Amino acid sequence: MKLDAATKYNLYIQSVQSADTDVLFYKKVYQDFRGKIKKGLTLREDFCGTGIISTEWVKLHPRNIAIGIDLDPEPLFFGHENFISKLPSERKNRIQLLRKNVLDKNIPQTDIAIAVNFSYFLFRERELLKKYFQNVYRSLKTNGIYIVDIFGGTQCTDSIVDKTKHKNFTYYWDQKNFDPVTNYADFAIHFRYKNKMYKDAFTYDWRLWSIPEIREIMSEVGFKQSQVYWEGTARDGGGNGVFTRVSKGEACLSWIAYIVGVK
Ligand SMILES: C[S@@+](CC[C@H](N)C(=O)[O-])C[C@H]1O[C@@H](n2cnc3c(N)ncnc32)[C@H](O)[C@@H]1O
Repeated sequence: MKLDAATKYNLYIQSVQSADTDVLFYKKVYQDFRGKIKKGLTLREDFCGTGIISTEWVKLHPRNIAIGIDLDPEPLFFGHENFISKLPSERKNRIQLLRKNVLDKNIPQTDIAIAVNFSYFLFRERELLKKYFQNVYRSLKTNGIYIVDIFGGTQCTDSIVDKTKHKNFTYYWDQKNFDPVTNYADFAIHFRYKNKMYKDAFTYDWRLWSIPEIREIMSEVGFKQSQVYWEGTARDGGGNGVFTRVSKGEACLSWIAYIVGVK
């Protein structure tokens, strides 16, 4: 059974995105490297899907500009209808969602580029991931930074289905298959909504990359340095949503971190 596109993106956003707080983190990270800034900044959201992060970025400062890039017209259309069209014109003029490949030569230049929710994991060959990182490096302005997220931990390769109940639906994260020889992973998101099960609403053919691999490729394409932001621990032992710069992580069942490439 298939969900209609609008419901599918609405449930996805509620389950896995927190765009309003994420943009504060991206701004803070930029300031960590470039000092306090008062001017507006440009942000490119690679693999933007519905572009909800870009929408939040233009709300943050009256001169912020956001450009989202995605290949798929379906989430881009959803984003236009549900987010961009509802912005006042002053904000609408500072955001663009482009149907483009992140590997294209002429992707727009920005101060910050991000690839989040592990989207770059879809590049399973090192050469291809390197080609993408080279493109990002070239596209960044002189003081630009590139932010990606990454996850790991012993549990991330287990065959498990993680279930989260929300008010009107249930979200399932299904780690269907993992091959330790290639690090290829076959994962999916399912939803239970209005008493019906919607299997494989989103599917992922990923390679599970490691932090050192990503930092090495960043260095090879020219980033002067890369830094890791690690999540703190809440009282219940889970993540607390606060990420700080570290030089050493902590082995645990499951972790999320950000890697920042500095031009
Ligand atoms: C996992 S979704 C990420 C959506 C959103 N960024 C988020 O944070 O949840 C991955 C998106 O990448 C897009 N995509 C896949 N390959 C791409 C490419 N080469 N260039 C641009 N977008 C691509 C897909 O269309 C899809 O919308």
